[in-house]
Amino acid sequence: MGTVTANTQACQGHARCALLAPDHFDVDDYGKVVVLRADVGEDDLAEVEEAVISCPELALSLG
Ligand code: F3S
Repeated sequence: MGTVTANTQACQGHARCALLAPDHFDVDDYGKVVVLRADVGEDDLAEVEEAVISCPELALSLG
């Protein structure tokens, strides 16, 4: 369905992504998002989209 990418320079560690889509995102010890799974399938598209639009820093993109 798509691929999600993160801009770690923009990320400020709000962790909404990790709460909304924990299979795809985590936050490391430095407070930066880590993409656990970039591949987004039909089943998890809605939660990843929610995570992308919920990031206050607009650090996530789904393409
Ligand atoms: Fe970073 Fe946004 Fe997630 S600031 S930790 S990518 S909600």
